[in-house]
Amino acid sequence: MHTPAPSDLNYQTGFGNTFSSEALPGALPIGQNSPQRLPYGLYAEQLSGSAFTVPRSEVRRTWLYRIRPSASHPEFKRLGAQINGIEQGPVTPNRLRWSPFEVPAERTDFLDGLICLAATAPAEQASGVSVYVYRANASMESVFFDSDGELLIVPESGRLGIDTELGRLEIGPLQIAVVPRGMRFRVELLDATARGYLCENHGCPLRLPELGPIGSNGLANPRDFLAPLARYEDRGGPVQLVQKFLGELWACELDHSPLDVVAWHGNHVPYRYDLRRFNTLGTVSFDHPDPSIFTVLTSPGSVPGQANVDFVIFPPRWMVAEHSFRPPWFHRNLMNEFMGLLQGVYDAKAGGFLPGGASLHNRMSAHGPDAATTRQAIAADLKPQKIENTMAFMFETGQVLRPSRLALDCRERQTDYDDCWSGLARTFEPNRK
Ligand SMILES: [Fe+2]
Repeated sequence: MHTPAPSDLNYQTGFGNTFSSEALPGALPIGQNSPQRLPYGLYAEQLSGSAFTVPRSEVRRTWLYRIRPSASHPEFKRLGAQINGIEQGPVTPNRLRWSPFEVPAERTDFLDGLICLAATAPAEQASGVSVYVYRANASMESVFFDSDGELLIVPESGRLGIDTELGRLEIGPLQIAVVPRGMRFRVELLDATARGYLCENHGCPLRLPELGPIGSNGLANPRDFLAPLARYEDRGGPVQLVQKFLGELWACELDHSPLDVVAWHGNHVPYRYDLRRFNTLGTVSFDHPDPSIFTVLTSPGSVPGQANVDFVIFPPRWMVAEHSFRPPWFHRNLMNEFMGLLQGVYDAKAGGFLPGGASLHNRMSAHGPDAATTRQAIAADLKPQKIENTMAFMFETGQVLRPSRLALDCRERQTDYDDCWSGLARTFEPNRK
């Protein structure tokens, strides 16, 4: 097991806690949320990511103690430059795959370099997801927040420093970050370029999956999730504040940094997680479980057990199944699968599915290992085998992901994707059992 080097940032540990943090001693009010006069002349503000009246287990809210209230801003104006690929393309039942998307040569920050590849529904729906890739070679100067959903950031290359209202998270490949709906943040590049994937979750916030018969430990353990400590910027503007609202970008100019929260408490928080901490479970006899056994985080949908979106990973692991076909089997599913690759090779595809690339298998589309992988798996000597240096992931949703027009028309789309299964020869012999 690999344990990453500790960062010089400190974090708070746990998942879904009511955290609290203050950057100046005594800045956080004790015993009440909204005193008449606040320490240090701060303003109190509540940021709610859920309705006030949802069951207690669903409440997401944080109290912010800040230099200026967020209400202090001029009119937002619609930006001329909108997110790439926001226009939906024609619906297709076909299997889709894309080669890696290159980082542009011109100056491109995290927001500039977003490409929307697919979305389940318009952003005003209270469920569904939109899926993007990001590519960047510059740090953001503006500050951004997303009114349309929470953001799951999955880096494939390049480290990111994410400065949020609640403090700073640093992540790199094989780590993820989640920024809750409405939280203001700015992405700094810690390497020359960065590339990765983004899942915008319009539905219920992500949470850890139920463990059922697995018991009280395993998969992603709560103590491995890290929330930031309070830190604030006390500086003037101009600072461009950009928001995504019903799919469109709007901006206004502030005369101060909106990352000016000196203290806070609550559970509507950004967090990070290291995918190498995932406690991977699998068969020790024959066959292998459904890939739901690899779920890191889930957003429940309206049908019990049918997720709005599951974030699933395929980490390094031992394969020991006896008399079994070990790769992912051929399948047709109700659920819709967007996959990306962070490192190495995915065990169902011998070629064509590359780090930074992606595939989309929608409802009832038939897929599985490619022809070369299938032939190798049937002929394999079934000794215990360690699959190493790999990390694929899946955003699996209950609703069909509609590709964007750009995703269908771009040169990265592999129009010959179907061919990877065309070499599956007939091997049926009725007289040989
Ligand atoms: Fe699949």
